[in-house]
Amino acid sequence: MKLGRQFGWQITLGTAVVGAIAAGVSSPFVLRAAPPVITEEVTYTKDIAPILQRSCENCHRTNGAGPMPLTTYEEVRPWARSIKARTGIGPHAGVMPPWYMEKNIGIQKYKDDPSLSDVEVAKIAKWADSGAPRGNPADMPPAKQYADDTAWRIGTPDLIVKTKDVLVKGNSPDWWGEIESVPIPIEEDRYVLAVEVKEVNDVDLNNKERQTVGGRYVWHHLIYRTQVGLDAPNELELIAGSENVVNWPVHEVGRNPDYFDPKAAVLLKKGSYIVSDSVHLHSNGRDTNAHLEFGYKFAPKGYKPEYRRAFVGLGNGVDIDIKAMSDNQQLHAYTVLNEPTKITSFEPHLHAPGTRMCLEAIWGYNIQTLSCVGYDHNWVRGYSYADDVAPLLPKGTILHIIGYMNNSPSNKNVPDPRNWQGSGNRSIANMFIDLGNRVTLTEEQFQNEMKARIAANPGKDIILGCPLCGIVAQQQKAAARPTQNQ
Ligand code: HEC
Repeated sequence: MKLGRQFGWQITLGTAVVGAIAAGVSSPFVLRAAPPVITEEVTYTKDIAPILQRSCENCHRTNGAGPMPLTTYEEVRPWARSIKARTGIGPHAGVMPPWYMEKNIGIQKYKDDPSLSDVEVAKIAKWADSGAPRGNPADMPPAKQYADDTAWRIGTPDLIVKTKDVLVKGNSPDWWGEIESVPIPIEEDRYVLAVEVKEVNDVDLNNKERQTVGGRYVWHHLIYRTQVGLDAPNELELIAGSENVVNWPVHEVGRNPDYFDPKAAVLLKKGSYIVSDSVHLHSNGRDTNAHLEFGYKFAPKGYKPEYRRAFVGLGNGVDIDIKAMSDNQQLHAYTVLNEPTKITSFEPHLHAPGTRMCLEAIWGYNIQTLSCVGYDHNWVRGYSYADDVAPLLPKGTILHIIGYMNNSPSNKNVPDPRNWQGSGNRSIANMFIDLGNRVTLTEEQFQNEMKARIAANPGKDIILGCPLCGIVAQQQKAAARPTQNQ
């Protein structure tokens, strides 16, 4: 019976997995439901402005990262058809907002998710097709106020730390190296719940040639740590971290903020410096002065984390073998979790040929697709799971990532698809890694998290992201049932 149930479960979720793989081979839309039909009239003031305010204005406003402001009817009207086109692309390169989570598979709740619902996409299409009417001015929501030109997604940071400006000449080659370490001005140890890194530069955003992501930024990436003092840490600390040496999620161009598990906020120790010996600067064709700003949201004073950050490598560079002139190529990598683990974010890291990545958890018979996302190397995105759905995986779970590669002329990110591609650090070589954040739980913490997850999902036999929850829920039910001879 128990086995039968597990088997049934395998079939149910297995279908989705088979579907996902099939999707990579044929069309990524095989599982997509028909778009919703909007019958009522759609106007800018009533329907469209609230969507733009929530999901677009953060970038599309005066001096924002987007090429044009979309804050008033006059600004938006000329772009109506283009907005329809860009919001209707689905989870692929080119979609606006740049967020590629597939909505028909895997976990669907993420922190700071700016994406549009299918109904909203359909409303925008209907609005554009019916002449983009303004509607009743009285329906217009009040304009959103932005404190400064560089609003932070994480809200006003508790601390902002800035690197020194660098000048990247318009004609300079790529540069890799170290930056001067930056002291972090805190009087006592603090724990970080969210961190956002962004480039601030003097690019003229009104210049029509500056309207691509590559034209707007020069800091290609920065791999960094914080460390107490400036002495070089030992090898082990460099890899695994310690109280005094903390590795942070990498900053990359187009990157969004990181939100850590509330029970595993990350330590920023008094006397720390931001240290990086892996900076890559890439000219955008004009002389540009630029620095990075690190915004931190702190946990309250006195906070202590309950969980440890996990160091699980998941990726395979060595075997990357991408054939010339062909689409729909797959890469696979696996790892086994040696301790109960909670996955707090998924971050596909591919290079130019990458178009999609899926994350699967395999436990015994059970295969669960946790997330599938599209990928555009211009917009590297991390996806933080909402706390109440973050995958809870038992010791022994196999994590599997599948990368989908398009090395053909239909992928505009690839400079010359006639070349075979292998592994390497340069953008024209490849990587295949999930850079997501994970935390390690003790067996007791794991059981408690599962109990809470089951309690929050009454009556559910299958809880996506928690392969053992169904079994534990059954055991709970059996234990609560009176036995025959009572
Ligand atoms: C994270 C910042 C960001 C967000 C959020 C965002 N955009 Fe964009 N948008 C950009 C940038 C940068 C470009 C130019 C580069 C590109 O196309 O990727 C762009 C390009 C566009 C274009 C194409 C402009 C052209 O020249 O053809 C349209 C249309 C657009 N965005 C609409 C939207 C809409 C509508 C939303 C919300 C539903 C949105 N964007 C959300 C940053 C953003």
